[in-house]
Amino acid sequence: MSEYALSVKELTKKVKGNKRIVDNATFQVKKGEIMGLLGPNGAGKTTTIRMIVGLISKNEGTVLINGKDMDQDGQMIKSEVGAIVENPAFYDHMSGYKNLLQYARMARVPIEKDRIDEVVKLVKLDHAINDKVKKYSLGMKQRLGVAQAILHKPTLLILDEPTNGLDPQGIRELRDYLKVLASEGTSTLVSSHLLSEMQLMCDRVTIMEKGKIIDISELSSLDQSNEKSLNPVSFTVSDIEMAKQKAEQVQYEVVKASERIITFNLLNDDIPKVNRMFVKAGIDVYAIESAKTSLEDKFIELTSVAANQTDKGTVANNDTAN
Ligand SMILES: Nc1ncnc2c1ncn2[C@@H]1O[C@H](COP(=O)(O)OP(=O)(O)OP(=O)(O)O)[C@@H](O)[C@H]1O
Ligand SMILES: [Mg+2]
Repeated sequence: MSEYALSVKELTKKVKGNKRIVDNATFQVKKGEIMGLLGPNGAGKTTTIRMIVGLISKNEGTVLINGKDMDQDGQMIKSEVGAIVENPAFYDHMSGYKNLLQYARMARVPIEKDRIDEVVKLVKLDHAINDKVKKYSLGMKQRLGVAQAILHKPTLLILDEPTNGLDPQGIRELRDYLKVLASEGTSTLVSSHLLSEMQLMCDRVTIMEKGKIIDISELSSLDQSNEKSLNPVSFTVSDIEMAKQKAEQVQYEVVKASERIITFNLLNDDIPKVNRMFVKAGIDVYAIESAKTSLEDKFIELTSVAANQTDKGTVANNDTAN
């Protein structure tokens, strides 16, 4: 058995003019993992997902699901995948329940009515499941979409921007049930352009920009690297002059000092030491704020570096062409 639920290798999509809107993308989703596919608008997330689920053809590369090649066993493998790509389509004049029933009848595997009730509860749609879908809000349709995608107990769930139209409560609930599914062994690939969301939802993120994968990060390791690096920490103190004097006596690097706030570059372990130093010197500390480099910063840094390189690449190509 393959250790990966999904393995995407050198996946490429070309459009008119030989432009590569997905360019040589390689990444994997481990079994039971929630993998984020993160990138700004137009990065190529939907195109990548459409190729994975076979909605559009690919120009190059392979897609393996649970170790099996989509090109060879596509029809069979499809029962192992549940997906929402863009806005899921429903029969508007039918209730949510009838939509699910209809979908269950068409599924390749038998689906019991109990299973429908189970997923309806999981996505918290019980109160409205007998209402017609045309009365549903966008968020309710998203929930119904997730219910439909997981109805046949897929081992791999692929969700393209599932939080679109969800309120904060809905986003939180989605996160919670993805984690429940993950604990039961379901692997998930979930796309988003919102990093803060990915940070809470995923085990790892694959970052995409202009069709290329520019980084794959373990979210926990990003947090740990922060622990071991110097980060700006601000102390709001009662006596800034005395605080500056104290700081001069020690080796901590002062980044800036304003009327009441003094900022140092510190390791995590140094924060309580500096605090103790101030308190011992009779300086009151009103607040300590640590401006950790967040994943948001890393994301912006990575995508802007990638954008720069692509721009330079274009210039270089033009040069050779001339
Ligand atoms: N059939 C096509 N022909 C030409 N260009 C296309 C085609 N389909 C998509 N594109 C372009 O490819 C790029 C990637 O599109 P895609 O929809 O995959 O991005 P995305 O990451 O899903 O963006 P978003 O966050 O806005 O959903 C975009 O610049 C888009 O305009
Ligand atoms: Mg998209």
